[in-house]
Amino acid sequence: MGSLRIRVVEDAHELGRAGADLVAEVIAAAPTAAIVVATGRTPMGLYAELAARRRSGVLETKAISAVQLDEYLGLEPDDRRSLFGWMHRSFLEPLGVRDDRVIRLPLDGDLEGACAAFDRGLEARGALDLAILGLGRNGHLGFNEPPSDAGSSTRRVELSSSTIEANARYYDGGRPPATAVTLGMRQLLSARAIVLVVSGSSKRTIVRRALEGPVGPAVPASFLQQAGGDVTVIVDRAAWADGRAS
Ligand code: F6R
Repeated sequence: MGSLRIRVVEDAHELGRAGADLVAEVIAAAPTAAIVVATGRTPMGLYAELAARRRSGVLETKAISAVQLDEYLGLEPDDRRSLFGWMHRSFLEPLGVRDDRVIRLPLDGDLEGACAAFDRGLEARGALDLAILGLGRNGHLGFNEPPSDAGSSTRRVELSSSTIEANARYYDGGRPPATAVTLGMRQLLSARAIVLVVSGSSKRTIVRRALEGPVGPAVPASFLQQAGGDVTVIVDRAAWADGRAS
């Protein structure tokens, strides 16, 4: 089994810096690292910090591969509300990751077959080097909604009403689609390293349940307690209310 480290930082700004340090370490050790890229608000400071380091010439990111974590179904390919659009604006473009180094989820056709082929392709490349993840208020990782077990593969999912509500604020005031594709728990949990970033008081209860509660499908993020690789949770004080770990 791997290790689980909890790092408590002062605020969202420090979270971005600490997260970028970790990602930069992975890239320094493996310049062609395959990295899973979450969207959502929490990792945005981390991505901005990586972009700043790249601009100042201390970080080279052009050889990495970026792996899409999740995507809504039913959008036009160029819809800027897509998670790919968000990933492009916040990560791929600022870090200079070319299209041929982006591993995108299948979104149409025979999805079951396409997702199985996607997972086989990913496994053939070897373990993912790093997964950058955020935590859903319901304990999801990517769009692995509860209940999701540790062995679940890349697949089509129905989003819970809590996720649809939480993501409406990122959806130009509209209602995001209710179906999506997510990288499976199996793919995430077998990454060599995982960094989970958690910020804000709305995540207080769920982060404790995920890291200190019973491990099981009701809180998919709880499986991080048993992940094979090195898991680092970077959590700010607002989310880690009493600051017991450091
Ligand atoms: C986004 C994703 C989601 C978010 C999670 C937290 O690609 O996979 O699991 O990471 O919902 O979102 P924020 O950071 O906005 O609270």
